[in-house]
Amino acid sequence: MTGLDDIARIGADPRRGGYSRHGYDRAELELRTWFTEEAGRRGLGVECDRNGNLWAWWGPPGEGAVVTGSHLDSVPGGGAFDGPLGVVSSLQALDLLQAKGFVPGKPMAVVVFAEEEGGRFGLACLGSRLVTGAITPAAALRLSDPDGVTLAEAMRSAGLDPALVGPDVEVLRRIGVFVELHVEQGRGLIDLGAPVGVASSILAHGRWRVSVTGEGNHAGATLMVDRRDPMIAAAQVVLAARRAATGVEGARATVGRLVPNPGGTNVIPSSVDLWLDARAEDDARTRAVVESVAEAARAAAADEGCEVTITEESYGDTVVFDPALRDKVSTVLGGVPALPTGAGHDAGILAAHVPTAMLFVRNPTGVSHAPEEFAEAADCSAGVVALASALEALAR
Ligand code: GLV
Ligand code: MN
Ligand code: MN
Repeated sequence: MTGLDDIARIGADPRRGGYSRHGYDRAELELRTWFTEEAGRRGLGVECDRNGNLWAWWGPPGEGAVVTGSHLDSVPGGGAFDGPLGVVSSLQALDLLQAKGFVPGKPMAVVVFAEEEGGRFGLACLGSRLVTGAITPAAALRLSDPDGVTLAEAMRSAGLDPALVGPDVEVLRRIGVFVELHVEQGRGLIDLGAPVGVASSILAHGRWRVSVTGEGNHAGATLMVDRRDPMIAAAQVVLAARRAATGVEGARATVGRLVPNPGGTNVIPSSVDLWLDARAEDDARTRAVVESVAEAARAAAADEGCEVTITEESYGDTVVFDPALRDKVSTVLGGVPALPTGAGHDAGILAAHVPTAMLFVRNPTGVSHAPEEFAEAADCSAGVVALASALEALAR
């Protein structure tokens, strides 16, 4: 039992496979209700902060708390573990501590951050960015989903007041330390032969929107020489992304979303939007990848008689997790290995404000953001025991 069985039917995506659970959609709201009920069954008091993040408190809320948790939303067609494993493990870790009669010397809480993946509104770690002021309320409220529903509208229909979103120093002051457990999103722990590890760092990463504009026209009636087809330029941007990242050590670049407008089989699109996800060890390398893709995009657009604009939609520099906290947690867990990750997390956003650590649970497929993402039940149990030990040591 990983504890994920209770929510296995919520947000299952029969078309794409895996799960599609996005900020304030029906599935995510159902998961939030599930979390509130589970917390209530344990005697935890649940609050929703101004930015849509849920907090389940063991005892009265207070400053300097030991906080654990993760997120419940997914990428489109994502795996079962990314996010929810951290939430169920947090609840189970508190169960272990309560069962052994542990009396925390500090406030303790489990948090569920809103829209961590940015699967609906395009911006990853939306809830933690809002709390910490990494995005302004005005910029956040302008975000909209592919159907044109704004974040403000989605929050309102979930019973939240969008006028209240924004930096929240009271919430931040309550976090003394944050520990996020997560399924590993690579093969590090397999190679190390360890069920659990701690995080050392996160790659610098960001998202850029590339919009290419050409001339919409008829697929049959328009001679090849007469076309200004933005899809031709977009295709070259995709190839340039691979080329650019291959040329920079440790870098990664991905085009996972490409939207032609209007999008008809027999229509030359008038414009194409695509999103570049670029990551590398540091700011300079990440920027070098993006600049190289941007140059290729400008050249390809010019060749095709198109125009291109490139907009940075989000960016975060390299995160190095608090070394003292990392070592303390590793030692408490008997010297588990520390490993870096290429994935972003709310813990990475919070790391600029409070001491933050992450625990990773081995993933035998090494796959993530896809239905094949997995963790063995025994490793998930080891993760819960490890999290409980870490929280106990921090809250003593
Ligand atoms: C989130 O998981 C990301 O790394 O984009
Ligand atoms: Mn993810
Ligand atoms: Mn995640």
